[in-house]
Amino acid sequence: MYQFAVIGLGYVGLRTALALSGHKQFVIGYDVNKERLSELACNYDCNLDRSEAQLEGHTIQLTDDSNRLKDANFYIVDIGTPVNEFYVPDMSVLKIVCKTLGSVLKAKDVIVFESTVYPGATEEIFIPLLEQVSQLKCGVDFFVGYSPERIVPGDEAHDIVNTPKIIAGQDAATLKIIEKAYALFVDSKLVSVSCIKAAEAAKVLENIQRDVNIALMNEYTTVMDRLNVSMSEVLMAAGTKWNFLPFRPGLVGGHCISVDPYYLIYKARGLHVDTDLINSARKVNENFTQFISNKLVSTLMTQYPKVSNLNVTILGLSYKKNVSDTRNSLSFHLVSQLTEKGFNVTCCDPLALIKEHSIDFQRLDWESLPKQQAFVIAVDHDDFKEIGIDGICEKLLPYGMILDIPGLFYQSRLPRNDITYWSV
Ligand SMILES: NC(=O)c1ccc[n+]([C@@H]2O[C@H](COP(=O)([O-])OP(=O)(O)OC[C@H]3O[C@@H](n4cnc5c(N)ncnc54)[C@H](O)[C@@H]3O)[C@@H](O)[C@H]2O)c1
Repeated sequence: MYQFAVIGLGYVGLRTALALSGHKQFVIGYDVNKERLSELACNYDCNLDRSEAQLEGHTIQLTDDSNRLKDANFYIVDIGTPVNEFYVPDMSVLKIVCKTLGSVLKAKDVIVFESTVYPGATEEIFIPLLEQVSQLKCGVDFFVGYSPERIVPGDEAHDIVNTPKIIAGQDAATLKIIEKAYALFVDSKLVSVSCIKAAEAAKVLENIQRDVNIALMNEYTTVMDRLNVSMSEVLMAAGTKWNFLPFRPGLVGGHCISVDPYYLIYKARGLHVDTDLINSARKVNENFTQFISNKLVSTLMTQYPKVSNLNVTILGLSYKKNVSDTRNSLSFHLVSQLTEKGFNVTCCDPLALIKEHSIDFQRLDWESLPKQQAFVIAVDHDDFKEIGIDGICEKLLPYGMILDIPGLFYQSRLPRNDITYWSV
């Protein structure tokens, strides 16, 4: 009998615990955030990732008491793995969790890490810590595996229960145990790999692949702009070839694609292996907002003698379409860069949840927003689509500009001919 405990009830952990609960499994949901626990007890997810209806009737035993973990024998770890200010992996919370688990481990317990880490982290860091605190031997007394998570918030079509799930164990026997356990709540295919390192590496590669390809599109956009050629049109034309990959330019933020490459870079550096392409892609994507800010200035300069004190609104603060998550959102870079250039910057986003932020900015809802000299569409939320190009133009002063990064209105007809529209 498996008795599950999910450690960390953020975006990933909550979905995992719900999948277990939905499949009638015993599940403890452990998190140190008391507020989060009380909200979940009232069927409210402050991340707005799961709805009240999706939470209703769940049987997750919510707790912040680590002693309760002793009632479990299969632990799934879903703790955040950011980078620090120097872009170095910060696994400090995962290490705390290893110590917590080490203090409750018993014979035959299984721990599966799902957090994204560099290849080798589970065996080099987490297992020794678990052994040290528990005084038990991994592979003899307790067993460890790894299964990366692939959920994409905002994408309801792909969930934990219907997306192929990679699983790995420290040995073949552990893999079998993990396979049986995951089959209890993952309805789709389980993809077994031969070792933990390969599973860790697969997850990081998935995100690096996206980062590198988007960087290529962003770099290409800067060249097309100089040539006065529409990147959207180039993409449409190139996309008619059977093997052209449909990547688009855009802002790369969030806690996965903009972070995970640094985990691999860090590991490779320790092994004295160069990762020039991965590094360059990161640099291109981090600097893309600078290109956007300069584009706004150079275009507005053709209409206004100086840009200082012009009003510009950034539409979209979350890191991507239709989600509330603002972690590592590049919209904040845009705010800083445009403020530095002298613009009066306002932000508008009906979804974005901002818990705390080091930069100052004004946030208004669409109704209260006064007329602006420019809009930068940073995120293609459906709400902005609904406002439409006509609605946005109504809020533009004469000779204003719309800079549409996702190309939301690329094919729309402008209702006024004094407006400058630019999209990738
Ligand atoms: N969010 C995603 O879309 C996504 C997708 C795929 C993979 N991942 C990966 O999954 C992992 C988890 O990401 P997330 O977005 O769910 O993180 P998150 O920050 O949303 O959630 C982490 C949770 O852990 C809790 N926590 C912090 N310290 C704790 C402790 N000592 N003990 C117990 N709980 C503690 C926090 O309160 C929080 O609720 C990361 O490695 C991430 O890269 C995330």
